[in-house]
Amino acid sequence: MKSPCRYKMDFYIRIQGMAMLMEFIYQNPALSPQERTNNLLSLMTLEEKVGQMMQISYNTLSAEEAEDWASNKKAGSFLHVLGKKAEHLQELALSTRLGIPIIFGIDAIHGHGLMNGSTIFPSQLGMSCSWNPELLEKAGRVTAREAAADGIHWTFSPVLCIGRDLRWGRINETFGEDSYLIGVLASAIIKGYQGKSLSDADSILACAKHYLGYGESTGGKDAYDTEVTCRKIREVFLPPFKKAIEAGCATFMTGYQSIDGTPMAINKKLLYDILKQELGFKGFVVTDYNNTGSLVTLQMVSPDLDDASKKTVEAGNDMIMATNDFYESAIRLVKSGLLSESLIDEAAGRILSIKFSSGLFDVKKKSGYASRSVISCKEHLQVNMELTRQSIVLLKNDKNILPLNKSTNIKKLAVIGPNADNLKAQLGDWTFFTHPDPNPEAVPAFEYYTMLRGISERSRLKGIETVYHKGCDILDDENQNIEDAVSAAAACDAIIAVIGDCVEQNGEFKDRANLDLSGAQQKLLKALKALGKPLIAVLVNGKPLCVPWLQKNADAVVESFNSGILGGKAVAELLYGDFVPSGKLTVSFPYHSGQIPVYYNQLSGWHSPKYMDLAERNALYPFGFGLSYTKYQYSNLVLSSAVCGKEDTVAVQVDITNTGEYAGTEIVQLYINDKVSSVMTPEKELKGFERVSLKAGETKTVTMSLQISALAIVTPDERYVVEPGEFEIMVGPDSKASSLLKKTLTVC
Ligand code: BGC
Repeated sequence: MKSPCRYKMDFYIRIQGMAMLMEFIYQNPALSPQERTNNLLSLMTLEEKVGQMMQISYNTLSAEEAEDWASNKKAGSFLHVLGKKAEHLQELALSTRLGIPIIFGIDAIHGHGLMNGSTIFPSQLGMSCSWNPELLEKAGRVTAREAAADGIHWTFSPVLCIGRDLRWGRINETFGEDSYLIGVLASAIIKGYQGKSLSDADSILACAKHYLGYGESTGGKDAYDTEVTCRKIREVFLPPFKKAIEAGCATFMTGYQSIDGTPMAINKKLLYDILKQELGFKGFVVTDYNNTGSLVTLQMVSPDLDDASKKTVEAGNDMIMATNDFYESAIRLVKSGLLSESLIDEAAGRILSIKFSSGLFDVKKKSGYASRSVISCKEHLQVNMELTRQSIVLLKNDKNILPLNKSTNIKKLAVIGPNADNLKAQLGDWTFFTHPDPNPEAVPAFEYYTMLRGISERSRLKGIETVYHKGCDILDDENQNIEDAVSAAAACDAIIAVIGDCVEQNGEFKDRANLDLSGAQQKLLKALKALGKPLIAVLVNGKPLCVPWLQKNADAVVESFNSGILGGKAVAELLYGDFVPSGKLTVSFPYHSGQIPVYYNQLSGWHSPKYMDLAERNALYPFGFGLSYTKYQYSNLVLSSAVCGKEDTVAVQVDITNTGEYAGTEIVQLYINDKVSSVMTPEKELKGFERVSLKAGETKTVTMSLQISALAIVTPDERYVVEPGEFEIMVGPDSKASSLLKKTLTVC
């Protein structure tokens, strides 16, 4: 028989066991992320919960300071640290009381480009010109695999800003100017990043940014106020973010902008009421870099950091990027009763829940990283090659000068210009050359093709000799040797002029007032033109430039934007006709900087829709435009029904015939116009597109479905309403009115 003392002991052991079990519920992978989060939160101190809300910028600290954040303040996240250093911080975090893993984030924007040696794709703007969601999903997968192999769990991508004011320095980071297309492409890349399951070892979290209206800042100036209205927000800016939520995007980032005087980081209506309540976003929101601190130091809406921290949390931010003093501030605010601890619980809870669902607490992701052998592997190279080919847009091809040597007989080719041998200009922003700290001297640890390398190698295979001269600098007017460039070109049969802009003219803090070709580039081009030889211009640039001279004077114009490490190879293949170009612009080109904005889906004016001192009314190259080596003819536009109800879906059918001599892929575009509506609507809006491959001489019928709900307007009181009446349904190869077939649809 047990003594009373023994019973007491048993009882005590049982209670302790239960307590242990209770405590470690969050460690049990069989439970749901929400159950695990609730348990973990119940065990955490206020300090630990605020710690989870901290995102620490690694490269601003000493190693000891970083360790302190990992072990003592238990920061939830670090940005811009990978490999062994990240592994070390993770070990420290896992050996703390509750062992909550750190989530490591990085700007893997067009590939895992901050890591020298990884696959670098064309910029977002470049890749968007492929209009190919399947390929973008693959690019997202490649990026995820390579970043995960470096211990990264999270990319701050994609950018869903709308690239309409071309003066803005970050146009290169956008998917262009159209809200619908941005949503489709963003969903695809998000799926690629996040893979089949967030908890797979090679999946990383996506981050839809910058929520919201950042690209629309007044005057195209970065980090500035915008005056967009709530109606416009719902009509234009919110839809891509809605699509990101539907695609399961785990995180959102705010931005540096303010809307009508309210800094985005404290815009409760947009962050909490709309994003979290109305749209039901379940992931977490991270501020942009030091958004909270800027409320005090730059935007002047808070007298001190306590006020700024309180407003940031109350507006609906969950994680605070790079405002390290937020930690003490938030703790102080809660302890003094000025900030409700329930808001801290909600923020930390959202972060923890994502950590659970992304497998961070579980063996698969905890026990080491995926193999680094995936980085720049052959399979990834192939995806990059295909995406790069599809990203290039042929803008002019007079008398079919391209492909080279079909109608010409070139024996010696001049490759001239400041971007011919300029890897940095070709890669653009967000690579190890520029971030986290600029390192322009870095030596690339991968094989790459500048335009010069690509063109010379391809020419050699064809028995064509190439000569190269830089000609001039992009920024420095004085640094030029046009005479020598011209004499090099004079000895050749044709000239490839590689011009554009450079990385110093793109990115944060790099807005431009003047989008003409800078430096002595225009002078160089004129001197080359005077030689009277075929002149083919290849543009290497972050964003549209004003190039009417090229359209008038060059025999061909090829737009490659920032085409990544394989750009030179793909452009050379295009020049020689190894593939038939299919890319189409996702952003319109102006004739003149003063004409900006020139996006296709504006409300048209009703006095003079043009400037009196500019001959042209429209864009130089409009949205959706791109040539091919073959020709397509559109015919027989048919709607499955000419009259329909608001809940219906209409099938829009059109025949496309390849009337040229090459097989090719055409991007068929579907636009609509609401003929009469209670608020004004654009002349046309993209509502669908389809890629169709056709052999020479072949005809295919393409069918696109149009949901009538997509025809909704936004009323002044912010409701989405489909108004009965007539709509014009337009299908064609680009957004030019003259290119489109039209049919009328009546909605009852
Ligand atoms: C940019 C973000 C980026 C963050 C972290 C900010 O300056 O606006 O797009 O994700 O830095 O690098």
